Amino acid sequence: MKDTVGGGLPDEAMADEFDTVAWWTAAAVAELGEDHALPAACRGSGSPAALDWLATWMGLRSGMSLLDSGAGVGGPAERAAREHGVRPTLAEPMEGACRAAGRLFGRPVVVANGAALPFGDETFDAAWSLGVLCTLQDKRGYLTELRRVVAPGGALGLLVYARSVDELPDQPDGNHFPSLPELREDLAAVGITVLEEKPLTEVASTPAEWDEAAERVEEVIARDHRHDERWSRAQAQQETITGLISDGLVTGVLLACRRA
Ligand SMILES: C[S@@+](CC[C@H](N)C(=O)[O-])C[C@H]1O[C@@H](n2cnc3c(N)ncnc32)[C@H](O)[C@@H]1O
Repeated sequence: MKDTVGGGLPDEAMADEFDTVAWWTAAAVAELGEDHALPAACRGSGSPAALDWLATWMGLRSGMSLLDSGAGVGGPAERAAREHGVRPTLAEPMEGACRAAGRLFGRPVVVANGAALPFGDETFDAAWSLGVLCTLQDKRGYLTELRRVVAPGGALGLLVYARSVDELPDQPDGNHFPSLPELREDLAAVGITVLEEKPLTEVASTPAEWDEAAERVEEVIARDHRHDERWSRAQAQQETITGLISDGLVTGVLLACRRA
């Protein structure tokens, strides 16, 4: 793993969730069994149906290289490999998440800030970014890097949590939800063309067995760490975001795009 950390990285509140809890997740899966890995490792990426919608509209096919920028614990990239035959590479700034992804799935993973990716121009056939943009202030810097490492005309996929109101009542620490018009402006400004858009609410939700497996993993983490203040902070972050989504103030949107 190579360290390329720079500006625009998750702050302390987010590190609890994306670094510490991510690493605890791998330990919980080791106890519960491999069938818990994918559900537990898709953190914020929506349902398998959402991943399949993106894969289809991005034209992901067997043998294609796919960069997952902000890959978290690596569930979405692993599913794309298993279901669509892509060759994934994971980039993620939190070392605990990278170690967890390596332990769970063994795919190539690099500790890297998405705004300074350690890859040459046009390295990948395709790239996606799931649930990452709302954690970043400098969205254009990150998107420019995502575009740079994809071949001309290459496919780009995004899952973005966007705010549907001007002001959110309760903004979780470190989150910067764009509005949809702001997002579309940012994409156009960096040379990314949107081909198709789909609200997350219009694709099938996560199957019950996935939810149940993810819940069992969370129960094991809570059993072992509920007295740790990092667990409490991560829980509070998640509850704030879940509340914003269930109140309709923040909505997930899938975007299948091309490098212009
Ligand atoms: C909600 S999680 C989503 C993880 C994964 N994409 C998924 O869907 O399962 C957001 C991820 O963005 C990562 N992230 C935050 N800042 C980043 C940056 N500057 N570059 C790349 N990833 C970043 C976090 O560390 C975290 O793993």
